[in-house]
Amino acid sequence: MGYALAGALLGAGREVTVWNRSPGKARGLLARGAREASSAEEAIEAGDLTIACLLDDASVRETLTPVLGKLAGETLVNLTSGSARQARELAGWLGRHGARLLAGGIMAGPPTVGTADATILYSGARDLFDRAAPALDPLGRPHWVGEDPGFAAMYDMAALSGMYGMGVGAEHAVALIRAEGGDVEAFKRDVLRPWMERMLPFTVDGADPGGPVPDESNPEMQATGLENMLATSKEAGVPDELAGHLHASLWGMRRATTAR
Ligand SMILES: NC(=O)c1ccc[n+]([C@@H]2O[C@H](COP(=O)([O-])OP(=O)(O)OC[C@H]3O[C@@H](n4cnc5c(N)ncnc54)[C@H](OP(=O)(O)O)[C@@H]3O)[C@@H](O)[C@H]2O)c1
Repeated sequence: MGYALAGALLGAGREVTVWNRSPGKARGLLARGAREASSAEEAIEAGDLTIACLLDDASVRETLTPVLGKLAGETLVNLTSGSARQARELAGWLGRHGARLLAGGIMAGPPTVGTADATILYSGARDLFDRAAPALDPLGRPHWVGEDPGFAAMYDMAALSGMYGMGVGAEHAVALIRAEGGDVEAFKRDVLRPWMERMLPFTVDGADPGGPVPDESNPEMQATGLENMLATSKEAGVPDELAGHLHASLWGMRRATTAR
């Protein structure tokens, strides 16, 4: 990911200095005009803005601990994925050493970084975002989600949770078809994909566990439908774990029925 981020900045004509724990991975970037620093310290000193994108929060802490002095008075843009709490604690830790954090979450894979399909979430002080946004713009659409440094991670993880939920739902659907000897490819192409595409707006707009049930939807009918799905899954011998979301939805529907 670091390679893709640096590549997008170079593509926009920015001066880029890169550093990676294991040297020698930036050859393609060097050929495009990047400089390679021999240490994290040297990389921080080289530019106006430091962007970190490492494996996890622990690797960021480990890398920054010996060079914290160099970040005093500077802004760190951290695009490493982590939890909201980790981002808040990182902001506090940097703050105690005179540095400010603009926390980020990358809503894109490496091939889409720097394209119109990439969105980068940011959170932290609005003035930090406003100042850094023009420099960060080549990475993907910068989208600020609040002052709380934990919000970028929270939005990122919540959106991923939606994506993985969709993936598990699709896996469950395919497992049913396969278990009953159906044509998986035809099912995906002719039924599942068009159905999921059509249902996406309803799925997102109606997503509010415990929230109000729209008048036009009868929760009792929906609960019965979910029970039919669970029964079908059981009959086909498809593992219950994949249908876990159905149990959770059924619980919500039953509650809504009681509340009516
Ligand atoms: N790839 C994606 O699709 C994607 C999408 C969105 C967000 N992200 C996030 O972007 C971040 C980086 O992902 P990636 O795809 O680049 O992962 P990756 O290919 O596994 O690279 C991990 C990077 O972290 C470095 N690293 C690991 N442990 C370290 C340590 N203790 N000290 C210093 N450096 C360390 C590695 O350096 P070495 O080369 O020396 O091992 C490498 O540069 C992650 O937080 C990930 O969740 C990735």
